[in-house]
Amino acid sequence: MQAAVLREVNKPLTIEDVQHGDPAPREVLVRTVAAGVCHSDRHFQTGAYPYALPAVLGHESAGVVEAVGDSVTYVKPGDHVITCLSAFCGHCEHCLTGHMSLCMSQELQRGGGESPRLAKNGESLAQFLNLSSFAEYMLVHEHALAKVREDMPLDRAALIGCAVTTGVGSVIHTAGVEPGASVAVIGCGGVGLAAINGAAIAGAGRIIAVDRVQSKLKLARKFGATDLVNAGEVDPVGSIRELTGGGVHYSFEAIGLTQTAQQAFKMVRRGGTATIIGMIPVGAMLEIHGPEFLAEKKLQGCNMGSNRFRVDMPRFVDFYQQGKLHLDELISGRIKLEDVNDALAQLETGEVARNVIMFE
Ligand SMILES: NC(=O)c1ccc[n+]([C@@H]2O[C@H](COP(=O)([O-])OP(=O)(O)OC[C@H]3O[C@@H](n4cnc5c(N)ncnc54)[C@H](O)[C@@H]3O)[C@@H](O)[C@H]2O)c1
Ligand SMILES: [Zn+2]
Ligand SMILES: [Zn+2]
Repeated sequence: MQAAVLREVNKPLTIEDVQHGDPAPREVLVRTVAAGVCHSDRHFQTGAYPYALPAVLGHESAGVVEAVGDSVTYVKPGDHVITCLSAFCGHCEHCLTGHMSLCMSQELQRGGGESPRLAKNGESLAQFLNLSSFAEYMLVHEHALAKVREDMPLDRAALIGCAVTTGVGSVIHTAGVEPGASVAVIGCGGVGLAAINGAAIAGAGRIIAVDRVQSKLKLARKFGATDLVNAGEVDPVGSIRELTGGGVHYSFEAIGLTQTAQQAFKMVRRGGTATIIGMIPVGAMLEIHGPEFLAEKKLQGCNMGSNRFRVDMPRFVDFYQQGKLHLDELISGRIKLEDVNDALAQLETGEVARNVIMFE
């Protein structure tokens, strides 16, 4: 099968002919129909986050079950599925206390002694975040899949695999935004736009979108933004404090920069909560002004929207079908696997929402 392989950081992915294994017990072979290109793939490509190489990247996808291994009860061939990188074991402390997205169990991967899920003529390739979606097939643990209704278009379903689960989840699960609250979202990429959409679904009173690209701010309106702040023209912290009379109740950083994460903390009002979704490079440190904690301001991280994805994803599909989740507008382009490097490079410009790789 064709797959996009990262062999060296800061180099283009190479489209190679690679092999997937047969499904072992609890494993499922999925034919990839669509895979979104997320900025997280870019962070691993540039080495901002290290990973075992060579690896097949990609982690935001949907497809059709092709074959199942022994003891798989959740899906059967022909089922439509959305993948989720937060595969859960179901019996560790995180899973048992309802925080499945924090599960770190190794049992979702194959062990060192077993044949690898992905290989090229005998050379093992690392599976990226339990998935490796930039490939015609994915061999995954059944706990990395959510089954969805078959009238859901799979290109849009793919976006639920990361951007939506993360963006909407950050608002409704991680932060728990309540109706009427004021929200600011810094960064209107796939994840930020989904967070804005999530704030609208949660009934936030005011939703302030922040970006440097004017076209993205315009797009943010369609997702529910009530106010737009161009961070290339004005200081977002000052503007948001002025717009809201002291700051928002909830802010979300969806870029992955120290500067914007610091802004996210500064722009919340007394008692407010800043949620950092963006992947801030390994080794980077944030500066927070200590006395601000006396205002009971909170700063928190977010991993994949604190999801319970087998419950969340079918609900997000329903939201889309009901017109509440704007997935059509989230797709900037449908591309081929060969064009993945252009899509990764385009993420640097901030001009795109999501490019989706379509497999034949
Ligand atoms: N925590 C998680 O579980 C999780 C999951 C998915 C993605 N992420 C991370 O979320 C972040 C966003 O991902 P994405 O795919 O939406 O990215 P993206 O590149 O599509 O979007 C980033 C947006 O930020 C804007 N931007 C850049 N610099 C800015 C600045 N200084 N001020 C204002 N706006 C600015 C860009 O114009 C763009 O619209 C990335 O860091 C990604 O790795 C985290
Ligand atoms: Zn992602
Ligand atoms: Zn677990």
